[in-house]
Amino acid sequence: MKNVLVTGGAGFIGSNFVRYLLKAEPQVKIVNLDALTYAGSLENLQDLPNPSRHIFVRGDICDSKLVDRLMREHAIDTVVHFAAESHVDRSILGPAPFIRTNLVGTFTLLEVARRVWGTQRIGVRFHHVSTDEVFGSLMPTDPPFRESTPYAPRSPYAASKAGSDHLVRAYFHTYGLPVTITNCSNNYGPYQFPEKLIPLMILNALQGKPLPVYGDGRQIRDWVYVEDHCEAIHLVLREGRPGETYNVGGGNQLSNIELVQKICALLDELRPLAPSHPGTAPAKYASLITHVADRPGHDRRYAMDISKIRAELGWSPRHDIESGLRATVEWYLSHLDWVAKISQAKDFQAWLNANYSNR
Ligand code: NAD
Ligand code: TYD
Repeated sequence: MKNVLVTGGAGFIGSNFVRYLLKAEPQVKIVNLDALTYAGSLENLQDLPNPSRHIFVRGDICDSKLVDRLMREHAIDTVVHFAAESHVDRSILGPAPFIRTNLVGTFTLLEVARRVWGTQRIGVRFHHVSTDEVFGSLMPTDPPFRESTPYAPRSPYAASKAGSDHLVRAYFHTYGLPVTITNCSNNYGPYQFPEKLIPLMILNALQGKPLPVYGDGRQIRDWVYVEDHCEAIHLVLREGRPGETYNVGGGNQLSNIELVQKICALLDELRPLAPSHPGTAPAKYASLITHVADRPGHDRRYAMDISKIRAELGWSPRHDIESGLRATVEWYLSHLDWVAKISQAKDFQAWLNANYSNR
């Protein structure tokens, strides 16, 4: 791994990965290709360690000529593909960009990699970053998803990611392109765009706004701290077997309502509210929790079986939900300037109105 093309490296996980890789691989040069949609921002790439080994290029992964030029000019030997439309709720209100970026974009990258690398098999790698949502929804007592679990996506987002995974695998079997895939559960941590559950709840709470829990709030997600995910991807790049898929998860299965209550308790401790009446106990953030109409087709539960990556590569998550959530809440509280800039992003306020005002 010498010259790495990271796609979507100005988004949440991508920017965390760029930081991680610059530290973990002292010789590597990174070309970061990102279209800077509403979800991407150069604010996520401030104060990088070793910034001289990072080149940012604003551009679209569907732009085949641009991707071709970057791969040749920078002698790219490794592609780590994060770029995507990533928010389920947005995919429900408007699926078209998901089909374009997640399917056509992934196809474009695969085609260019096939063309530029030709029959080269050694020393090159195309790594595709995917999600547990491709496997569909679990009932409370079902066993967790394994790599062999049949795909059963249920949202336009999940379907577009499932399609992209199939394409990546097809390029391995048909053309021998050395690919790997990671399917990861819900990430959380620094630099997550505030449309997603955890930052949305932190920021709404700080503004005294309602905390909108969809439906009964008993849907379960398996939360993984973003740095642990980055470490897993790095290990797969170095030691994962071409053609293989690895499940990544945090081992933290929580219902949404439990998670929101934990966030409220942390805020009560770290940023206590004033008492609602003089001489009484401080008000509690949990009083802001509001149940709103459920997400259509809302997946009930995700959970990952990570025994393959643990056995083959020795990876397991370093953060439990207690330490990861505390670090996350503290990060948002100490980065309110970042929050202010990011919240001005293009259509964010319009998005909040569209998704929440009539719920
Ligand atoms: P994100 O929405 O925060 O960032 C996506 C980035 O991709 C943004 O910087 C955006 O500008 C860029 N982008 C979008 N369309 C583009 C295009 N056409 N060309 C170039 N760049 C484009 O997403 P994220 O949460 O960081 O997720 C990154 C990847 O990880 C995605 O592929 C997602 O499916 C996957 N994933 C996410 C999670 C999660 O919990 N967030 C879990 C598992 C897998
Ligand atoms: P999200 O962060 O959008 O991730 P995903 O849908 O990919 O799992 O949502 C996590 C969970 O939180 C999901 O079950 C939907 C729920 N949720 C709410 O209850 N309220 C909200 O405002 C949001 C954004 C999500």
